[in-house]
Parts: sequence; C-alpha cells; structure tokens
Amino acid sequence: MAAERTTLRIGLAGLGNVGAGVYKNLEKNRQLLTERTGAHLEVRRIAVRDLARARDVAVPAEMLTTRWQDLVEDPSLDIIVELIGGVEEARALVTAALKAGKAVVTGNKALLAEHGKELIQLAEQQNKPLYLEAAVAGGIPIIKAVREALVGNHINAIYGIINGTSNYILTRMTTLGLSFEDALAEATALGYAEADPTLDINGWDAGHKAIILAWLSYGHWLRPAEVTVTGIENISLTDVGFARRLGYEIKLLGVIRQDGGGLVEARVQATLIPKKHILASVSGVFNAVAVHGDVVGETLFYGSGAGQDATSSSVIADLADAAENLSNELGSNGFIPHGDTGKAKPIEDTVSQYYLRLRVADTPGTLARIATLLAKRNIGILSVIQPDPEEGDTQSSGTAHLVLTIHDAAFGNMRAAVDEIEAFDCTLEKPVLLRMETLGS
Ligand code: HSE
Repeated sequence: MAAERTTLRIGLAGLGNVGAGVYKNLEKNRQLLTERTGAHLEVRRIAVRDLARARDVAVPAEMLTTRWQDLVEDPSLDIIVELIGGVEEARALVTAALKAGKAVVTGNKALLAEHGKELIQLAEQQNKPLYLEAAVAGGIPIIKAVREALVGNHINAIYGIINGTSNYILTRMTTLGLSFEDALAEATALGYAEADPTLDINGWDAGHKAIILAWLSYGHWLRPAEVTVTGIENISLTDVGFARRLGYEIKLLGVIRQDGGGLVEARVQATLIPKKHILASVSGVFNAVAVHGDVVGETLFYGSGAGQDATSSSVIADLADAAENLSNELGSNGFIPHGDTGKAKPIEDTVSQYYLRLRVADTPGTLARIATLLAKRNIGILSVIQPDPEEGDTQSSGTAHLVLTIHDAAFGNMRAAVDEIEAFDCTLEKPVLLRMETLGS
C-alpha cells in the first residue's frame, strides 16, 4: 500500500486553456514536483468534449474520453480536476466525484459562488478535500494566504483587483486610447477572458471571486443576489481623466469587509482609488489583493490574474497539497469549516466616499441648489471642480461639467440625493456616480 501512496493519480476534466496548461506544466516540472512532494503527480485520464479537436499539448490518445463519468467511476484515480467551466454540469461532476470518494480540485468560481456551500458541506461529509486555489486571482496564492498564512487574523477588509480581463481592457483604453472592443479582442486572444467574456465585462467574474473571498474570510456564503456588481462597460475616458486630475485611478475593485455588527459587505464596482496607493499602479492582466488583518496589518498579493500558465500554477499547487495529504493521514482537508452565521449588509447601508459628475446648465445658482440639497441630506462635499471651457470637449456653450467628491455617506442616502439632482431642470444628462475608496481597514 505504501508504494501506491507515492503516486497521485489524476483525472483531468477539461483540456481547454487552463487544462492544457496543467498538463503541460506538470510535464515540464515533473521532476521538481516529485522531489518537493515526494510523490509522482500523474495525469492518468482526461475528459474532453471533442476527441478530434486540435490542441496545443500532445496527450496520449488512449488517455482521452468524452465522458467525465469515466473519470469519476475509475477506482484507480485519487483526484479529479474540474476545469470544464459552466455551472450545472460542473456541479454534477464535482458532486459525483466527491460521492465516489475522490478529492477534487476546481478553478470554477461561478460554480463555487452559486453552489459552494452545498459542495463544501458534501466534501466535509465525505471527508474529502475540495481545493480551489485557481478560482480566485489566477496565479496569486490568495486562498492559501488567507486560509493558512493569515489564519491568526480577523480579516478587517479585502480590496482586490480580481479580474484580469477588465483590468487589461481599462489599461489599454487609458494608456493607448484603444477602443473597448479592440482591447477586449486582445484580452481574448491572449487567453485572459472567459469563453464567454460577458462575465468579465459585467463584473460577475470578479463578483464570484468576491463571494469566495467573503466565505474564506467570514465563513459565510453570500448569495449572488446579496452582492452588488457593476462592470466596466460604462466607464468613459472623460471620467478617467477627471479622476486622474483629482489624484485617483478608476479600477474594477472588489470590496469585502465585515462591520462591527458582523454584517458582511461584498461588492464589485468601478471605483476611484488614490493614485498613491499601490493598487492604483496594478495594470494589464495583473491582479492584486490587499488583505487587512487585525494582527498583521495590511498585506498585498500581486501577480498574473489570468492566463494559462499562471492559473495552472495554482491548480498544480492544489495537486501538490493533495499529494501530501494522501501520504499524511492527518493532512488538512483543504477547506475551512468555520461558522456560517453571517448576514449580508444591505447595499443601501454601505458607506464610502463618492465621485459625482454632472452636466448642468451654466447659470447662477446651479451649484448652490445642488449644495443645498446635499446639505439637507447631511451629505458633505469634499471638493468641487468646474473645468474651464478650454478643456476640450468637456464643455459646450451654456453647459458646464461639475465634478464633486463627496465625504463618506450611506449609499441609499447618496443615491436618493442623486435621483433628486437628476430631476432638477438644470441637470442636462444622467449623473455619473462612482464610489471612491480610501482603502483603509
Ligand atoms: N477571465 C478571468 C480574468 C480569468 O480575466 O480574470 C481568471 O479568473
């Protein structure tokens, strides 16, 4: 029996971008991995959708099957790696694998965000590990960092740039003036975007990761309906320009934190962050996650957030853990079975600073009217700029931009104020309201 334990027999479900990377890099660093883990990490079977498809890795044809059930039902396999994507079929696969007594690795953030609670419970019942390092921030080992290295901390807050595709698009648009479509096409060609990039663009890929980080930090699975997510589709270069003038960059930012009463806040929104904070200089496909712990203070994790090699590095790390656990009866189960008593904080009650851009009639009294309304709602103004007419296309005759920054205010109150301002006859366009985060704990 001891000899058997020196080999981790892997069934790989999915040989797309990340699956091919896992296969390729297990081969590439085979010897190193054996030396470090004391085990052979061997892919024995691979499930694919289409046997005939051309691939950028050479795999022995006899390993391939079109049925993932063949992997789950194969008693010789120790672990199943789920990289097929999607939700329902992946859920069936992971469920069946755990029930068959296999350990499981998944990089599927949508699956975990929707069904993580049930799958983790099943893993606990089966006493089998469910590993998920690749589900958040690509190659950054953020799951291990929070779960293991920061285990002695209450997590005060996490701020993360956790979607590589949208960060890449924002960077290309703002530094090279590329169109949204061209920048997205580049991100797709580079293998950063999901098969369906809708989730990258509308913020939900990051939203799913925020749900996982909230669970990791607070032990509570938020439902997707409890998470506020808006993407980068409506970010204009006008707002990027004003933000910079104010000393900020606009990033798609995940905010995960718990208030003093235990309510958990998780949201992903295009957000102004101070240029002087290191997160503001995270560009291209890179992700970064700032974790504030009550013992450690602020920590920052940075690296490639998407792509074949970076993401496969995280899957391989999980496989190495699994290999260790196979030969260590007391090994970690790879998940945190701590409490599930949290509650979501209603978005109306979440507090931040704001950026508000208005296009208004350039007449006396307009600013006073807006300031009076905000004062009536007890909302404080941090700064106001009214750009000069010579500032290019930001002005046209008889109209003016007003760009206000606003002190901390509850979102419900702020939104109500903006609705009232929008209804003023001097307001000529839909106001742009964005969050500003100071990124403190
Ligand atoms: N499409 C994702 C991203 C891949 O761009 O971040 C990693 O989850």
